[in-house]
Amino acid sequence: MAKNALSFVCQNCGAAFNRWQGKCESCGEWNTLVEEDVTGATTMPASIRSKRRGRLFTLETLTGKSNDAPRLASGMAEFDRVIGGGFVRGSVLLVGGDPGIGKSTLLTQATSLLARAGHRAVYISGEEAVAQVRLRAERLGLADAPVQLAAETSVEDIVSTLSEGAVPRLIVIDSIQTMWTDTVESAPGTVTQVRASAQALIRFAKKSGAAIILVGHVTKDGQIAGPRVVEHMVDAVLSFEGEGSQQFRILRAVKNRFGPTDEIGVFEMTGLGLREVSNPSELFLSERDLGSPGTAVFAGIEGTRPVLVELQALVAPTTLGTPRRAVVGWDPSRLSMVLAVLEAHCGVKLSGYDVYLNVAGGLRIQEPAADLAAAAAVRPVAQTSARLKEAAKLGFGRAVLPESARGDVGGDAGLSLNTVGGLTSLVADIAARGSPRGAKEGSREGAAEKNATPARFRRENG
Ligand code: TYD
Ligand code: MG
Repeated sequence: MAKNALSFVCQNCGAAFNRWQGKCESCGEWNTLVEEDVTGATTMPASIRSKRRGRLFTLETLTGKSNDAPRLASGMAEFDRVIGGGFVRGSVLLVGGDPGIGKSTLLTQATSLLARAGHRAVYISGEEAVAQVRLRAERLGLADAPVQLAAETSVEDIVSTLSEGAVPRLIVIDSIQTMWTDTVESAPGTVTQVRASAQALIRFAKKSGAAIILVGHVTKDGQIAGPRVVEHMVDAVLSFEGEGSQQFRILRAVKNRFGPTDEIGVFEMTGLGLREVSNPSELFLSERDLGSPGTAVFAGIEGTRPVLVELQALVAPTTLGTPRRAVVGWDPSRLSMVLAVLEAHCGVKLSGYDVYLNVAGGLRIQEPAADLAAAAAVRPVAQTSARLKEAAKLGFGRAVLPESARGDVGGDAGLSLNTVGGLTSLVADIAARGSPRGAKEGSREGAAEKNATPARFRRENG
């Protein structure tokens, strides 16, 4: 009968091998193979393996009535935006993030809001005792919300309990790494266990129509630990990010079967939990005087929202053979490319200087449109008028944009516009304007330059 099915499973990607080896051939990671008993995971019990004929089912058409409201909004606008407008019935979301970033806080708030609105919301903690979860809810001022709470780790027990009574609208499992199922022999926390537990919970979600949120831990290189495999199984993967030293947290969709993946939700961690930040532009502009050299404000688009961010550059004579290029919040290879363009076409000699570039507020910019703000190749920029409107709203008086974007401005943006045809004319423009504060030559050659001083800052600073 059943042979000994011991196998070696990579804890990073889930690939299985029949002998141990130092490096996983599938994902290339070292020392990730662990011996696991995968009996239940790969072979079916004999009772199910019987020679029965398949059940007949009816085939449906594309048109037809879908049963009621497919989405349920959580009531946290920033959360709902990222998931595409609300929780889809029977969908499973994975929320990843560093320990202590605020995943449990965010989900306690979301379940409490739903419960207060009269929906059945369940919070299962595998990491904290009920008393700890209560304590957090008390601190958040949510202790009165009728959330159903439990500290459990057995998937079978959880599924049986939640199958009773009304179908929950939202179930939070905090976290998937602490769950285990009887169907496989592996120890809790191993890939096989995590995968089997996730599978059982996903099956329950699809069958019952409840939305489930799985919390997943993240390894130091940003992967959702172990259950990379889980990422492929769920409907959406969200990542909750932030700089340790800053209060701002960004919720980002990495994958979403039911919505866009380029939206972000912005929160601020306060003593009373996470506060939604509905106007993130205020947040990514630093408090200090924007007139200082080496800063430029970039009007970016995150999803459907225009967001203003400040780029800060510092150029200093190098003491090393190879000058340093350090970047926070932007792609380092793009910086090298921009510097090469400046050097080759604009006569800005940077080979003797270290260049540091920082995106204020802890945001990560991915748009190539930011190249201009970082003094780069001038390319057409999409949704120009939305970006300009946001800048005008925040009191900026002047904007620099590519010639080709002139046509999309649409109406009076309320800004004085400088169009540039090429990078050389931008460099000439900046050089002609001179330094507002008599900055030294070296520091003015930064990759980012001051584009405009907002009226509100000008006023304050005379
Ligand atoms: P938590 O939600 O437990 O993080 P995770 O589940 O991602 O590990 O959040 C823990 C951190 O959040 C902790 O450092 C304390 C901080 N925090 C606040 O600053 N304010 C609050 O109201 C709460 C509940 C937590
Ligand atoms: Mg937690």
